[in-house]
Amino acid sequence: MVTGANGQLGNECKVLASLHQHVRFVFTDVEELSITDKLAIDKIFSENKFDYCINAAAYTAVDNAEKDEGLSRAINATAVGYLADACNKYNCRLIHISTDYVFDGENSVGYNEDDATSPINVYGATKLEGEKIAMQSDSKSIIIRTSWVYSYFGKNFVKTMMKLMQERDEISVVNDQIGKPTYAADLAAVIFKIIFENENPSSGMYHFSNEGIISWYDFAVAIKEIGGYHCKVNPIPSSAYPVPAKRPHFSILNTSKIKNTFSVQIPNWRDSLKKCMLLLNQKASS
Ligand SMILES: NC(=O)c1ccc[n+]([C@@H]2O[C@H](COP(=O)([O-])OP(=O)(O)OC[C@H]3O[C@@H](n4cnc5c(N)ncnc54)[C@H](OP(=O)(O)O)[C@@H]3O)[C@@H](O)[C@H]2O)c1
Repeated sequence: MVTGANGQLGNECKVLASLHQHVRFVFTDVEELSITDKLAIDKIFSENKFDYCINAAAYTAVDNAEKDEGLSRAINATAVGYLADACNKYNCRLIHISTDYVFDGENSVGYNEDDATSPINVYGATKLEGEKIAMQSDSKSIIIRTSWVYSYFGKNFVKTMMKLMQERDEISVVNDQIGKPTYAADLAAVIFKIIFENENPSSGMYHFSNEGIISWYDFAVAIKEIGGYHCKVNPIPSSAYPVPAKRPHFSILNTSKIKNTFSVQIPNWRDSLKKCMLLLNQKASS
């Protein structure tokens, strides 16, 4: 089962599922199954014999979460416990997705899976609660922290930049938040590799993002270059772009553990960005 199936990661899972015709997938999003509904979760698990539950559902509006802490917690933390409990009860493996925002961003070298967490916004705090609940409820859980997710599907930085660069002569992008973009298709691919190429994958915490460390400004410049846009891109500090939620300055996830454990080769961020933009441009011209 894939929850949050209409989101970026959920949709990329649908794309990959079409290549696995021999496997039965159940895709749900909030309309069919709100993960905050404990009874509905128990019911769907009792009626199906799921081997895996990929939890791609989340409250991902980082700024809105500052004033919507209750809903953010209900979806990002409490509901994760319902899924983990059901996985435990019905002998299913939970693959839960978390975030680099569980860290405060003071570590410029990069975070390992067991480094101390210290979220600086509500979204990060509720996602951290979700991680802990998942681990406590079901020791077989696999948690994958990721960062700066974009995709052909949904709303994201790449699509916003492409639109703005077509409409405007000049834009400003922050250059003091450093991290690693993640193409949701690459994340979906590693999840499928874990599931389909491992008899009994090791539980625990893993980090996954594309290779390469950049700022949002660098990311925007690459989008401009690949897209061939003429828009001028200006670097600005975060202080010049005030938003409700604080963001970590360095959110660099070290990915050695997932690479070594599951023999994963992770694409460089620029190569994956090119792939995604190619798809988006094909859609625009069709
Ligand atoms: N996006 C990022 O930059 C980023 C960065 C780090 C980690 N992550 C994590 O990566 C995972 C996937 O993120 P994503 O970008 O694919 O998220 P997304 O595009 O926002 O998709 C999340 C999906 O979950 C759905 N959802 C919300 N509440 C739900 C509920 N109560 N029950 C069932 N479904 C519900 C959403 O529906 P609505 O749209 O209707 O709310 C949406 O379709 C999440 O765990 C997220 O925290 C994301």
